[in-house]
Amino acid sequence: MADWVIESFNKAHDRSAFTCGKPVLDDFIRARVSQYEQRRLGKTFVLVPVGEQRVIGYYTLAAGAVAFENLPTAASRKLPKHPVPVILLARLAIDQSVQAQRLGERLLLDALQRAWDLSNKLVAHAVAVDALDDDAVGFYTRYGFEPLLDNPRHLYLPMTTIAQVLG
Ligand SMILES: CC(C)(COP(=O)(O)OP(=O)(O)OC[C@H]1O[C@@H](n2cnc3c(N)ncnc32)[C@H](O)[C@@H]1OP(=O)(O)O)[C@@H](O)C(=O)NCCC(=O)NCCS
Repeated sequence: MADWVIESFNKAHDRSAFTCGKPVLDDFIRARVSQYEQRRLGKTFVLVPVGEQRVIGYYTLAAGAVAFENLPTAASRKLPKHPVPVILLARLAIDQSVQAQRLGERLLLDALQRAWDLSNKLVAHAVAVDALDDDAVGFYTRYGFEPLLDNPRHLYLPMTTIAQVLG
């Protein structure tokens, strides 16, 4: 059995020491996540050791859309010419103390599973990501994310591919 769990964020979670190496992602979980929840701008899920409140990883989901013109031609060929609904994976980070132990992968797979489940309730065509930097692009492309046409750091993974990944 895993010695960690992924659960919905609540204010009791201890985020004071979270450090992933990217200040903007540390700042979000330490200081801004509650406001985002209250204003319904994003829903955050945290990774904690079993029986603890200490956050060692997190990701945030939100509703989004991708402009038709930004889809690769092969993907847009069969789609109507209007914005395509997506689930935005707004942030994903693992604390430096536990990086390189496949926890980033576990969080990403959990986010994709959640997005797939959501897409069966309120349809979404894909999961999209605004990668923070080229390092983050390297992580996401490893799992099949492809660049959209507006920005090489704006990536997406179609739900049909996610269904295959999840088996
Ligand atoms: C990127 C991040 C989430 C990866 O988490 P992690 O737990 O350290 O990574 P994992 O152990 O799950 O790695 C799984 C696989 O991805 C690879 N990987 C990890 N980070 C990678 C990167 N930046 N680029 C390419 N591949 C990467 C690993 O080498 C591993 O591959 P393997 O199967 O060949 O061994 C983590 O390093 C992090 O939080 N970084 C800072 C924040 C950030 O950049 N977030 C993403 C953008 S929002």
